[in-house]
Amino acid sequence: MTDTSLSPVRSVPDRSTVLAAVRSAGRAPSLHNTQPWRWVFDGTRLHLYRDNDRLLTSADPLGRQLVISCGAMLHHVRTAFAAKGWHTDTTRLPDTGHPDYLAVVEFRPWPEPPIGVLARARAIDKRRTDRLPLYAPTGLSQLLHAGRMLVTPHDIELDLLHEDARAKLTAASDHTTAVRRYDMEYQAELHWWAGHSGDPEGVPRESLVSDAEFTRVGVGRNFPAAPHSARRGDLEDHARLLVLSSPSESVTTWLHTGEALSAVLLECTTAGLASCSMTHITEVPSVRKVIAGMLPHPGIPQVVIRVGSAPDDESETAPTPRRPLTDILTMPHD
Ligand SMILES: Cc1cc2nc3c(=O)[nH]c(=O)nc-3n(C[C@H](O)[C@H](O)[C@H](O)COP(=O)(O)O)c2cc1C
Repeated sequence: MTDTSLSPVRSVPDRSTVLAAVRSAGRAPSLHNTQPWRWVFDGTRLHLYRDNDRLLTSADPLGRQLVISCGAMLHHVRTAFAAKGWHTDTTRLPDTGHPDYLAVVEFRPWPEPPIGVLARARAIDKRRTDRLPLYAPTGLSQLLHAGRMLVTPHDIELDLLHEDARAKLTAASDHTTAVRRYDMEYQAELHWWAGHSGDPEGVPRESLVSDAEFTRVGVGRNFPAAPHSARRGDLEDHARLLVLSSPSESVTTWLHTGEALSAVLLECTTAGLASCSMTHITEVPSVRKVIAGMLPHPGIPQVVIRVGSAPDDESETAPTPRRPLTDILTMPHD
C-alpha cells in the first residue's frame, strides 16, 4: 500500500528535532540497561554503531543481545522521528567491512504518520520493565494480532505460549539460575550492572524484586534481590508468555529481533499492559531448545516477553536512568 502523505523527496530534520528524537529514543530497553549504542548525525543521515565496551562477555559472548538492544533503539528512533513528522528509510549493516556499523537512517517529510505509530511514540516515555507479579493480560488476542502485524516485516515470529508452558518454563528458568550460581564471571558481571542506585546505566535496585516477590513470579532472571518487600502481595502471577523467534541466527536477524521487540513492547504499553523482556532462558543452549520445542513452527527463540495487567491503582514507577545525550550522539559542529 502506498502512503500518499509520504514525500518522495529526501530532506533533513533540523538540529533540535534530531536532539529531541534521539533523546526520546534513548528510553529504549537494553540488556541490563547497558545502552550499548552510539549515534552519529552527519548533517543529513543518522548512523547507528554498536558500543563494544558495553558487551557482557559472560552473559552475551557473541553480542546477540547487544545487537538486539541496538535494534530496539533503532525502532525507538524511527518511531520518535515519525511522531515529529519524519519518515525514515533504513539500511541495515551498510558496510560489511565495518562490523560495528549497524544501520544508517535517511529522512523524508511525513506529515501524516499512522495513528498506531503516534500511539507507540507516546508509549516510549510510559513503558517500563515490570518484574512484579501481574494479572492475566486483557485484550490478548488484539495484542497478538497487532504484534504479529508489527513483527512480520522483520521476518520475526511472535507466539503465545500455552498456559501449561509456565511450569516447564519456571523449571527451565530455575535451571539457568542453578547453572549460573557458581559462574563467577557471570555473577560479577550481573552484580556490576544491577542493584545499584544513582548510576546513569544498569538496572537500579528500585527496579528489582525481593526474594519473596521473585518466588511468586517464577520465570525471571535471578538478579541481586531488592530489600525485603511484598508488593502486590495478594496477587498470584497470571502473566502470559510471548516468544519472539527468528528463522536464523545472524547480526541482521538480531537487529530485526530488537526492532520487533521494541514494537511489541510499545504496543503492550499502548494497550495498557505491563511487560518484561527475558533472555536468561535463551542464553543457555539446553533451555533454548526447550523453548524451541514449545513453538508451533521451527524457529530460534530470541526473547521471551512476560505480559500482563498491573493493578490500576498503583502510582507510576520511576523510569530507569539513561546516559546523557552527549554520550550517545555525535552532532556536527555549528
Ligand atoms: C535484549 C534484552 C534482554 C533483556 N533481558 C532481560 C532479562 O533477562 N530479565 C529482565 O528482567 N529484564 C531484561 N531486559 C530488560 C532490561 O533490563 C531493561 O530494558 C533495562 O533495565 C531498562 O529498563 P526499562 O526497560 O524499564 O526502561 C532485557 C532487555 C533487552 C532489550
